[in-house]
Amino acid sequence: MENKSTKELFDFSGKTALVTGGSMGIGYGIVQRFAEAGANIVIADVAEKEAKLKIADLQKKGTKALFVKTDVSDEKQVKNLFKKTLSEFGNLDILVNNAGIFPSVPVLDMDLTLWEKIQAINLRGVFLCSREAAKIMKEKGKGNIINIASIDALHPSGLGLAAYDASKHGVWGFTKNFALEVTKYGIRVNAIAPGGVSTEGVEKMTGGAVKAGSTGGDLIKQFTAKIPLGRFGVPDDIALATLFLASDASSYVVGEILVVDGGYLLS
Ligand SMILES: NC(=O)c1ccc[n+]([C@@H]2O[C@H](COP(=O)([O-])OP(=O)(O)OC[C@H]3O[C@@H](n4cnc5c(N)ncnc54)[C@H](O)[C@@H]3O)[C@@H](O)[C@H]2O)c1
Repeated sequence: MENKSTKELFDFSGKTALVTGGSMGIGYGIVQRFAEAGANIVIADVAEKEAKLKIADLQKKGTKALFVKTDVSDEKQVKNLFKKTLSEFGNLDILVNNAGIFPSVPVLDMDLTLWEKIQAINLRGVFLCSREAAKIMKEKGKGNIINIASIDALHPSGLGLAAYDASKHGVWGFTKNFALEVTKYGIRVNAIAPGGVSTEGVEKMTGGAVKAGSTGGDLIKQFTAKIPLGRFGVPDDIALATLFLASDASSYVVGEILVVDGGYLLS
């Protein structure tokens, strides 16, 4: 292995990073760190308005950035996403499968449509994007795929999340076997398991409890009480772990899940 300096290890100049669900929350946190490290950015998201605002902001700061409106659960749209990425930047170095939804509905109240939607976005989306990215990366003999799973891939964090937990266990299983399949092509596949992170999605789920200092957010209060570090996570906590896994600083890490939860799973 090439002996790079620490600065070189975290220099992503000229590389292209594609982040699904990159227009807000954890995804946008990841986008900001890759942009700061010099990468070209592709945001794939269904939220057009938010994505366009973020793209304009990145471009103002000198980052080459592209938005491709994509529902990650739709095969045709995913193929179009990777075609557009290649025609804009000529390569793809990093894929972060981050797009995901987490509706909290008990199994006894859940209809089949919602179950299928959660699996389609959280799990099928990871498969579709990974397959298309790996085709490109295999040609180049190098690439990096990072799947944003969840601590719920390892242990349930709350009631009402059985469908979500099934999808995230799936993401973790997929990560390991896919890593086994493509490491020989120079593609490293790993996962991250975030704990509770303050994002637009969590705000919506908890009715504004996170930023408002847990007012009315019993769920968040109880959750935070179990975090040894004593605070809820922020998107940058996950972004920094992503940067590590995307860099050669982690070149010997394959098919692993990195838990980033302030110690929550210990309690
Ligand atoms: N926030 C947390 O506490 C937490 C904890 C563990 C894991 N995660 C995981 O991290 C990821 C991001 O979560 P977040 O909290 O930032 O969510 P968020 O709701 O704040 O942002 C999710 C983003 O994904 C996009 N998206 C949703 N459906 C999509 C689809 N079909 N195709 C493309 N884009 C789509 C949304 O438009 C949005 O931009 C998810 O996979 C989630 O399961 C979050």
